[in-house]
Formats: sequence, C-alpha cells, structure tokens
Amino acid sequence: MLATSTFLQGPFAPVTDEITAFDLPVTGRIPAELNGRYLRNGPNPLGLDDPGYHWFVGAGMVHGVRLRDGRAEWYRNRWVRSRTVAEALGEPWPAGPVHDGDDFPANTHVIGHAGRTLATVEAGALPYELSSELGTCGPSDFGGTLPGGYAAHTKLDPRTGELHAVAYYWAWDYVQHIVVGPAGEVTQTTSIPVPDGPMMHDFALTGNYVVLFDLPVTFSMTAASAGVQLPYTWNPAHQARVGLLPRDGHTAQVRWFEVDPCWVFHALNAYDDEDGRVVVDVVQYEGPYDVSRLSGRGPLSLDRWVLDPAAGQVAHRRLDDRLQEFPRVDERVVSRPHRYGYSAVIGEVSRATISPDGDFADQAFANALLKHDLARGTVEAHEFGPAATAGEAVFAPASPWSPEDDGYVMAFVHNPGRDAADLVILAAQDFRGEPLARIHLPARIPLGFHGSWIPDQ
Ligand SMILES: [Fe+2]
Repeated sequence: MLATSTFLQGPFAPVTDEITAFDLPVTGRIPAELNGRYLRNGPNPLGLDDPGYHWFVGAGMVHGVRLRDGRAEWYRNRWVRSRTVAEALGEPWPAGPVHDGDDFPANTHVIGHAGRTLATVEAGALPYELSSELGTCGPSDFGGTLPGGYAAHTKLDPRTGELHAVAYYWAWDYVQHIVVGPAGEVTQTTSIPVPDGPMMHDFALTGNYVVLFDLPVTFSMTAASAGVQLPYTWNPAHQARVGLLPRDGHTAQVRWFEVDPCWVFHALNAYDDEDGRVVVDVVQYEGPYDVSRLSGRGPLSLDRWVLDPAAGQVAHRRLDDRLQEFPRVDERVVSRPHRYGYSAVIGEVSRATISPDGDFADQAFANALLKHDLARGTVEAHEFGPAATAGEAVFAPASPWSPEDDGYVMAFVHNPGRDAADLVILAAQDFRGEPLARIHLPARIPLGFHGSWIPDQ
C-alpha cells in the first residue's frame, strides 16, 4: 500500500465537494452586531495520491460563513481557481497577471482590503481576488501596481489604512516591503538585500518600523533539484537576525540585531515602547526547524523580544511555555501596544510538525484556544475536547469603538458528534464560558491556516 502523507489524513483530509448552505442551525445566540463574513483559507488538494505531499502546497480552499442580524445566512466553501485548479474542474481559468510564471491557488490567508477579498500566498505567486460569495475573480497585482510577487501575511495599520507586507522569492537576492494604500494600489516598495534566500513567512509592524525576521530557513537548490515540494531547509550557516526597517525609510537604514538560531512562523504583534525600544511578541520554535519537512524539536512558545536600538541589544523573555501557534490580536491594535492575544493549541498539528523528542506536557496536544492577558501575565484556556480540533481564532470587536478585548473570538472547531465543523463564537471576556453560539456547518473543514472577520462596510 502506498504511504500517504499525514496531511492527507484525519483532520487534515481534504473535502471533495463545494457546498452552499443557507440559514444554518445554531445552538445559542449569534450576536446581532456581527454583520459580515468570517472567512478562512487552507490547503485542500484535488488528489490524494501524493505520498510526498507537503501541507503548504495544496490548492487553496476558502470556507466562509455570512452573519447578518443574528442569523447565519450561508456557508460556502470554494477552491481558488488558479489555472491548474480551473482545468482540473473543467472550467475556464479566470485569467490575469502571473508573476514569473508562478501561478498558484493561494492557500494561506484571506483578507479584506479596499473593498476587495483577497486569498493570499507567499514565495512568489500573486493573490487571487474573490467575490463576496467566494467565486474566483482572478489573480491580482493590485491593478498593475505590484512589481513582483506578494506575501501571505499582511498587517493593516488601523490609523493610516495602509496594508503592509513583506514578500520573498527564491530568485531574488532581496526581500521586498510593500505598502498598499487605502485605495488598493501599491504606494511604496522597498527592497532589502538579504543573503541565502530566506523564507519570511510573517513580519511585524510598529508605528516606526517594519520588523523583519531573517532566520536560518533558506531556499535550497539541492532540495529543489531533488524534487522537494517546498525546498526551504534549515541552514546553520545563515546568521539569525531581526531587522528594523523604518517605515518610510530606505534600504540603507535597516538596523539588524543578531539573535540565537530559531524559527518563527508568526508574530502576535509589535509596538514601540516609551523608551524607543521595539517590543515584538512571537510564537517561536527554539533551535532548528526544517520547513521542507515541517520538523523541529521545539519548544514552541510565546516569547517576547525587546529590541533596543540605542544599546544595540535584544532581550528575550518567555511569556507562555505552552505549545501553541496561530497568534492573533484585536486587529485594531496592530502596530501599537496590545494587552491581549489569542492563540490556538492544535494537538494534531503539533503531532505532525514537532519531533517527538521534545519534552511537552500532555496538554500541548489538546485542542484549545488560549487568551493571553500580557499585562497580568495570565492565560485562560477554552478546551474543546480530544477530537474537537480547533483552528486559528479571530477576534471581532463588539463595535468599532469598544475597547480592546470587548468582543468575540471565533474559530472553526470540529464537532465529533456530527463529524462536521461548527463556527464557534466565544465572548472574549467570558473566555472559558459556554460559547455564545455554535453555528452548525454542513460539512467537515480540514485543518487549515488563516482567516479574517470582514465586517460589512
Ligand atoms: Fe501563517
């Protein structure tokens, strides 16, 4: 029997159908002020016959739930129609620009910006624009204003309305900071020279700086030549460092700080403190991490780096040693001080991506959402049970004017009793309490990556 990738089985197993369902059943009460769409992207390959399948290369599928006036109006799941996906489905490709021949069904994140819905991915390919009901409009280069590839992760500055990103591509000897203005066109690009072709999955943003994670996971031509699907490997010869790029500066002004070798997929948030230092909270894999095999020892913890430009030093402190990933804040505090953070403990992802010689407590392999109060140094866990895998949590404010953490935390959570997913809505300020609502979706949702709450305008 052919070996099958872990990422094609169990809670990762792709679904085979696109579904449209209306007026979804709900246990509890959906807050009436939640008017908009919760969308989440993730890989959902069209075939199951690839024993070497890497989780990060499956065709993107976006799952969405539309809420209005206390009702769950619809659930939809749709593949992102790249050329190959459209052809496999027997449809015409919604054609558009392609960067360097690198068309890909964007599978990593889905965001709203300038009235558009964009599925995003990194490593060279362009975002795909989706309709409000998740149909594919086509690839987007922001109206012809993007010079190269784009990125999976973006940060929207809530004060300026600017969407920041950092793009990397194997054939570049630089990474590129890209600003898309509130009108949806690129207004600024800055290329920063870097050696070895590092993967930069995420970055952080403060009022003053773009924070660059130049860590020792770099493009490997050897791995690429050997047919490795995602040829980014641990490179001990690459100096781990964190860079501060002034937001309106130029390349020569990047300030680099050397750090111990580690790997970071995701930042929680960052900000400038009153003493001119830069506070960066990240989920950090201590020691080596090989992205091509999704393998490392960990620990994988929530850590704080404080970069002091005056002293040229980085202070490092562990905020929470529980194994976690997918950190998010209330989007309204992006780039400025945050008190709260939300993250996910996803047992099946931990089992699949952390080598078993790490010394982890059993709770690391549970299914839970975490709420961090970083002012008090406390953590609350909402546990979902052994088979109830929970994905990334996204925060939605109760109103645009409510304070940080006054609102809702939502995530897709597997409901083992129905063998289907629920969209679970927690009250952020009663985090461990019964969910306010469980919206019962008609199908399973494979474990995936990132999403957004996109309120109606
Ligand atoms: Fe990510």
